[in-house]
Amino acid sequence: MVVSNNPTVLIFDSGVGGLSVYKEVAALLPHVNYIYIFDNQAYPYGELEQGVLIERVHKCIDSVMEEYHVDLVVIACNTASTIVLPSLRSSLSIPVVGVVPAIKPASGLSSQAVGLIATPATVTRQYTHDLIKDFSNDKDVRLVGSTKLVDYAEAKLREMPLDKEILASELSSLVGKIDVAVLGCTHFPLIKQEIQQVLGESVTLIDSGEAIARRVKSLIEDKGRESENKKKHPIFATAPTWKPESLNRTLSYLGFEDVMLREIPHF
Ligand code: DGL
Repeated sequence: MVVSNNPTVLIFDSGVGGLSVYKEVAALLPHVNYIYIFDNQAYPYGELEQGVLIERVHKCIDSVMEEYHVDLVVIACNTASTIVLPSLRSSLSIPVVGVVPAIKPASGLSSQAVGLIATPATVTRQYTHDLIKDFSNDKDVRLVGSTKLVDYAEAKLREMPLDKEILASELSSLVGKIDVAVLGCTHFPLIKQEIQQVLGESVTLIDSGEAIARRVKSLIEDKGRESENKKKHPIFATAPTWKPESLNRTLSYLGFEDVMLREIPHF
């Protein structure tokens, strides 16, 4: 069992999206130990059957916790958080922080209509519809569920050339119709500038990253020393990654080691 004096935060997503949450958390808690695991074997989660998704998330988290002492888990994935949090919280004795679309703050800011850009699964979840019913303040909320945008963010972090046409066509139903957009998938803050260009500078983009970071900070204490900050964080994938060299380069800038394979028995 790997144990350390500093608290350890385990961050989970289906892919690189959780890195947008990691960046926010690490900015507030720079000396904490981070471990990242992404379930690329079952990616994209936005098109995965619910029972399979729940089982996968549990297995990934358990697999890391068998080896490392972990103080807090962040499910840095809206698609997973909208269904897996109750069962994870009842099976783990440490805090589990999730991320769900920021409908409430977005509706508060909007004077026209809100766009929710998320995965196909998130826009159909009952949880999301309840959020809209309870917190949209009767604002019109327009939903866009897109896996192509998730793939786009994956490609960006692998330094791939990006086709702006894809973005424009995926977001076309929102252009000129909204004044606030919720980035309801953790992959999307990674392509925020590109989304902003398509929707126009007058549209405010909101994501949940900062709020998650504040929540994590309220639950653990960063008592690290400056020198410990230099250590690279381990990152695991459940299947071999594509374009590993480019991805590892991006990960290195963010403070991670090269991706290590950690297979999870398949469903
Ligand atoms: N990053 C994830 C989310 O926040 C899911 C992306 C996917 O695998 O479809 O919803």
